[in-house]
Amino acid sequence: MAETRSATLTIDGKSYELPIHSPTAGPDVLDIRKLYAQANVFTYDPGFTSTAACDSTITFIDGDEGILTHRGYPIDQLAAESHFLEVCYLLLYGDLPSKEELDQFEGIITRHTMIHEQMHYFFRGFRRDSHPMATMVGVVGAMSAFYHDSTDVNDQKQREIASHRLIAKMPTIAAMAYKYSIGQPFMYPRNELDYASNFLHMCFAVPAEDYKVDPILSRAMDRIFTLHADHEQNASTSTVRLASSSGANPFACIAAGIACLWGPAHGGANQACLEMLREIGTVDRIPEYIERAKDRNDPFRLMGFGHRVYKNFDPRAKVMKASADEVLDLMGIQNNPTLQVAKELERIALEDDYFQDKKLYPNVDFYSGIILDAMGFPTSMFTPIFAVARTVGWISQWKEQLADPQLKIGRPRQLYLGDKLRDYVDISRR
Ligand code: ACO
Repeated sequence: MAETRSATLTIDGKSYELPIHSPTAGPDVLDIRKLYAQANVFTYDPGFTSTAACDSTITFIDGDEGILTHRGYPIDQLAAESHFLEVCYLLLYGDLPSKEELDQFEGIITRHTMIHEQMHYFFRGFRRDSHPMATMVGVVGAMSAFYHDSTDVNDQKQREIASHRLIAKMPTIAAMAYKYSIGQPFMYPRNELDYASNFLHMCFAVPAEDYKVDPILSRAMDRIFTLHADHEQNASTSTVRLASSSGANPFACIAAGIACLWGPAHGGANQACLEMLREIGTVDRIPEYIERAKDRNDPFRLMGFGHRVYKNFDPRAKVMKASADEVLDLMGIQNNPTLQVAKELERIALEDDYFQDKKLYPNVDFYSGIILDAMGFPTSMFTPIFAVARTVGWISQWKEQLADPQLKIGRPRQLYLGDKLRDYVDISRR
């Protein structure tokens, strides 16, 4: 980190120099690490809206310009010209692979897709009506009980094996959670299929007949994975980093990430969005919901709209929208009521002053749910699919963090507004 400039902070007449770091792209960063020791003050930033918690070389977002890059490559180029496993390699290792490197990587991931056979019994312990995210949090956390040879975070080789296992097994775990919830037999992975096709196979095939994966659906699935692969220091990624900062094993850290992703303000938005579209039901009811979204006294929000970082447009949403058109065409779905509501809602919200003033645009989840619904996934599978895709992002950030010589346990401070020191009062005198 080259630092040539500094900022001066004056508190009660005393001045402190704060180094300014210049990033490759994005705003400058004020280094306040020594502030508490020197000035005895904390900084206050609930929700981390102005705080960089780490340095990273993986993903860059310019929210005003609607730019998202992985290792410098724009997401639209990756979505159009690359594919998910190549993007995984890029995120994990920093550069696009050669043909040999990619072949080798794909071979490793393909051969790690089965899970320990005993884990099948673990699934059977859940209620059939468990949300697949609940099952995934449990099963992924439980991987630490099955793969002891890849839990030592100080061993480079074990870290590598854990990375491959998580990326390879997450689709199997998500598909098994789904199969279990509908009472169908688990489908084993098939090594001749690519990553996305294999996931579709494990979700939709049954042992009783052959299942042929449609290449357009497989391409759309791959694109959904690619578009969700990483997104800088978002809530679930920061959760993984915070969990890992204590030295916790990778499976425990990724389970923490899955738990955080589940919330409707984050990965749960794709499920919430489609449920909202269905609840609206018909185009004539849209104005009522728009008014509710604008009412400060009503907690209702238009799901799939708005983003903490993107205040212009979500570049992933553009690609996802095109993909949605492709899939719906293929499935012959042009006029279903949910789609009509989605299109009209998008049109009305984009023209509305409230949404324009607050810079609220459809995010990636607005369109991904429509595609997944058309493919035949129930809404409860939307967030698990996001988790499958984001695993590589979590893992890449986790690896980067562990390789950082500055690694410290994450320990935010607080603005304490509670009672001052007081003496304990015996229960008879309260
Ligand atoms: N509908 C209606 N109003 C909204 C919406 C929305 N979807 N999103 C934000 N607003 C309003 C807020 O009420 C707030 O208004 P105010 O200034 O009058 O108080 C203003 O816009 C700013 O919103 P914040 O919540 O302060 O913005 P923040 O950056 O904290 O939140 C978030 C971003 C959580 C994504 C929010 O826009 C939201 O809840 N959206 C709906 C859920 C969603 O789609 N999440 C998916 C995110 S993308 C992803 O995880 C892949």
